[in-house]
Amino acid sequence: MLYGIISDIHGNLEAGIAVKEFLQKKEVEKILILGDIIGYGANPEECINLFDTQEVVFIKGNHEEAIITGNHDIFTTDARISIEWTDKHFSKSYREKISGWKEVLEIDDFVLCHGGLIDPLYFYTNTRTKAKKIFEQFKFKYCFVGHTHFPMAYSLCTSEEIPSIIAQQPDGSLQIVLEEHKRYIINTGSVGQPRDGNPCACCGIFDTQKQIFQLFRVNYPVDKTAKKILDAGLPSSLASRIVRGI
Ligand SMILES: [Fe+2]
Repeated sequence: MLYGIISDIHGNLEAGIAVKEFLQKKEVEKILILGDIIGYGANPEECINLFDTQEVVFIKGNHEEAIITGNHDIFTTDARISIEWTDKHFSKSYREKISGWKEVLEIDDFVLCHGGLIDPLYFYTNTRTKAKKIFEQFKFKYCFVGHTHFPMAYSLCTSEEIPSIIAQQPDGSLQIVLEEHKRYIINTGSVGQPRDGNPCACCGIFDTQKQIFQLFRVNYPVDKTAKKILDAGLPSSLASRIVRGI
């Protein structure tokens, strides 16, 4: 099976379109979206429409949860302003849709969530110590997450105590030949708001037959998206950060 695994589209329609086309060219059979399809960007409903087909599975992120619960106080200023904007521009049928998304989903020998299994919506899996806790407390062969907007992976061999970090290449890509005796936590980065200094959209492909995970970077018209953010009256910092990939 060939899975496309992506996360944190954040209302960025242009990045979403580019990634969807890329995955279609690669002939993926199913797309798994690890939450935060909305928030920050100017096209939340359009991003859901873009991926709302039978071949796509959606997982809930903390931005969807904020819309469902109405609790916006947990966010920093720009995130709070953008979630309030999203709240105003989000119709009832979309609210019903996101309310049905699961926080954790198991498929065969892998598990998906937005942040980390310890706290699926909010946990930042961004250090080896935190990755270790997840490896210790949960049973899985592969766990795919997003939330940090920073692509990277952790692997743990049964004989090791501390997980190893698998870092991205200088061009922002990542290729992991998955080994039988190891377990993995893989962060697929962000489609619509990467924060690793590379503005290109992140896009993962998991080939279960060949046991290979690859993360690609996809170009998209970021200036167009930035202009939409400004035109919508969203904070200008949200436009400048996607141009710089921070
Ligand atoms: Fe996010």
